[in-house]
Amino acid sequence: MAYLETAADIAREAGALLANYFERRVGFELKGDFDLVTEADRASEKLVVERLRSHFPSHSIVAEEGGGHEGSSEYCWYVDPLDGTTNFAHSYPMFNITLGLERAGEMIAGVIYDPLRHELFSAELGAGAYLNQRRIRVSNCRRLEDSLASTGFPSRKRHLNINIHFYHQMAMASHGVRRSGSAALDLAYVACGRLDAFWEFGLKPWDMAAGSLLVREAGGAVSDMRGGAHNVSSSPDLLADNQTIHEQILTLFGEVFEGRFRVPMPPIG
Ligand code: IPD
Ligand code: CA
Ligand code: CA
Repeated sequence: MAYLETAADIAREAGALLANYFERRVGFELKGDFDLVTEADRASEKLVVERLRSHFPSHSIVAEEGGGHEGSSEYCWYVDPLDGTTNFAHSYPMFNITLGLERAGEMIAGVIYDPLRHELFSAELGAGAYLNQRRIRVSNCRRLEDSLASTGFPSRKRHLNINIHFYHQMAMASHGVRRSGSAALDLAYVACGRLDAFWEFGLKPWDMAAGSLLVREAGGAVSDMRGGAHNVSSSPDLLADNQTIHEQILTLFGEVFEGRFRVPMPPIG
């Protein structure tokens, strides 16, 4: 499909730009108390938005740093020009550029590009998910106890985030919970079986547009935290996994929502 190929070309070009900034170690500014933005976020967004507008002038664009565009068609691109900015600003090598295309409320194509590992994750509705040229599938892990999961904690309003309770219970119930600092790569890693599950509260549409399609196209499940339908533009809370352990995680999450903890927090001292 022309949309996917164009998105992949744009992601590779923006990825090369990000890798170049990464090597030069750029400084950062604060958007909120702990919410960072760098020159690289802005330069990548400018490039991506310019390319999308020249290829698809009638499409809408929703981009994290505000460079979007209101189009006249039913197509809308969600753009995260640099997902993993905190990592990037600290020279921690885990970040990506991601683009997802929605048509009339449904995700139809998406790419996530990691320029340091040269890994391009892509998916198209009904046509499967790929890592570079290779078809990918979610893991075949059957038991929560044998799983490796990942989660994230948003930088905005983090004092109100309840995720630490879910983190603790999942960490006790599984092989462990990673915190990569890049929601899109977490989703890509669920799609290719490096992780069995990922969840996060308070995501933005551009964090999960491409990744949620990748997980579904790789045979996984995506829902909200209580098992309800997930929609990129209206559901900030997301649970994505290999499908097989979906119910086991929802059962655990249900207990946490009710304040019933399988393992209490350890006493200090
Ligand atoms: C952030 C990362 C992080 C997640 C945050 C996101 P950004 O995106 O994906 O892993 O925990 O919720 O905001 O700000 O680096 O594009
Ligand atoms: Ca992001
Ligand atoms: Ca970003």
